[in-house]
Amino acid sequence: MKKKVKISAPGKLMLFGEHAVVYGKPCIVTAVDERMKVSVEATDGNLLTLNAPDLIASDYVEKIDKLGDESVPKEVRFVSKAVKNFFDSRGLKSGLKIETKSDFSSKFGFGSSSAVTVATIKALSEIFDCNLDNRELFELSYKTILDVQGVGSGFDVAVAIWGEMIYFVTKGKKIEKIDSPELPLVVGYTGIKADTPMLISEVNKLLNKDKKRVFGIFDSIEKIVNEARQLFTERDYVKLGELMNENQKLLDALNVSSPELDKLIESSKLAGAYGAKLSGAGGGDCMVALVPPDKKVKVEGAIEEAGGTVINVKSRAQGARIEKNI
Ligand code: PMV
Repeated sequence: MKKKVKISAPGKLMLFGEHAVVYGKPCIVTAVDERMKVSVEATDGNLLTLNAPDLIASDYVEKIDKLGDESVPKEVRFVSKAVKNFFDSRGLKSGLKIETKSDFSSKFGFGSSSAVTVATIKALSEIFDCNLDNRELFELSYKTILDVQGVGSGFDVAVAIWGEMIYFVTKGKKIEKIDSPELPLVVGYTGIKADTPMLISEVNKLLNKDKKRVFGIFDSIEKIVNEARQLFTERDYVKLGELMNENQKLLDALNVSSPELDKLIESSKLAGAYGAKLSGAGGGDCMVALVPPDKKVKVEGAIEEAGGTVINVKSRAQGARIEKNI
């Protein structure tokens, strides 16, 4: 048994297929180089001590026997449930000291919940010499997300584990790497935090009102995702931009865009982006534009001018890994 381990996992940026991926369809997601770092130390006794300044919890203490209690603040619950699910699955128990440190603000919707969950479980697997493989890590982490949040396709968990860029089908039915170099992306934040479970529920209400139309939209999104997958390997950014615009129209038809997102998307296109769309659940959070390299600065300026904040991220970051400097 190791005494202390530090693991980092990347954040994510959805490129194509959001919402439809909740209903059995594929999506394409890239890992980004903003990372969540989690240090885990086995201690004597029966307490979990969590120091997570970015998750709004300093020296939070919980009894190991009571982990995952519903009354625990949501920000802490992912770590607490992750520990509980790991211990339950392996029949283990120990005192723990956990510290988390995030490169990115959790408000950006870059997947801090899935990254912290994956990093916590991978660190526990290292400490207790369990050698979980990626698939086992996915299953335990995804269960944890569902336990806390109730909904989600699992795409964010998969990309936090495998990293780079992946083609993902609901609940991890397919997780396949896409061969592509780093992408010429510009990301703009609207300043509004999105409520993912609420937006998923709104889309579900729409679906129940008109199944034929909404499943038709999901089918069209699936076609776009499959075409885009091929175009990434061919590096055809012009056509990928067009597909982003088409995907955005379909997301608009699902009522998940917002005036703020529309404004940033339109201004980036006017400034020369190949294409742009919202990224993630919608309602706020981020948009992403694919841009010719010589238009990058102009597109960034246009997004700022339209009231957005440009977030500098690199795509195709490495998946969850052990950090040497503890
Ligand atoms: O809000 P985000 O960035 O976690 O993205 C949600 C994407 C959805 O497809 C709407 C939900 C999901 O879990 O796939």
